[in-house]
Amino acid sequence: MANVSLSNKNNKSSSSKIINIAVLASGRGTNMQSIIDKIDSGYLNAKVAIVISDKSDAFALERAKKHKIQAIFLDPKKAKSREEYDKLIIKQLEKYTVDIVVLAGFMRLLSKYFVEKYRNKLINIHPSLLPSFPGIHGYEDAWEYGVKVSGCTVHFVDEGCDTGPIILQKVNPIKDDDTFESFKERGLKIEHEALPEALKLFCEGRLKVDGRKVRILD
Ligand code: GAR
Repeated sequence: MANVSLSNKNNKSSSSKIINIAVLASGRGTNMQSIIDKIDSGYLNAKVAIVISDKSDAFALERAKKHKIQAIFLDPKKAKSREEYDKLIIKQLEKYTVDIVVLAGFMRLLSKYFVEKYRNKLINIHPSLLPSFPGIHGYEDAWEYGVKVSGCTVHFVDEGCDTGPIILQKVNPIKDDDTFESFKERGLKIEHEALPEALKLFCEGRLKVDGRKVRILD
């Protein structure tokens, strides 16, 4: 892949522009909440323009509505294929000027069509140190394997499952007296730092993708 600078205008001087974020979420939406909170605190110069879920009962939708953010459930059963469903998502996203799409606990694989359309503008948070324990049970798989150090990964999304270029990782060392619950609770708090941190770098135009490497510019 060629070198690609990523940002609103590919340089830091344009970092005063407010970045429009779209969030895709399937569940309770605590990572989405961390983005909203960091916007409210002034840490992120961004706006959540729209939240889309593939689950009608996703609490993320309630959270979004509470913050007066457009929140939409799109029923996967209404589409005949993955790509057709993704086109329904795109139709909604195109109503806004979306700078970046964030997968915050979105438990569906996206089609090649979607990934290609939003390449280098599509990021995911995953609850393990990739490439270990990809998939939908990151915490469970790491815990059952018995690793001594786990953590989370924020990465650009490519066509694979949790395989895209890594933006940042944070570690979550496992303590002898941890239970699965305490391990996961601490891990989630770490996720809530990692995702806004990666987004801030994006907003400031400080991410440069060079093949598999994401360099963080000063
Ligand atoms: C988070 O732990 C996130 O890392 C994970 O789902 C959870 C969503 O929580 N994502 C994945 O496993 C993606 N493969 P949240 O709805 O409270 O943000």
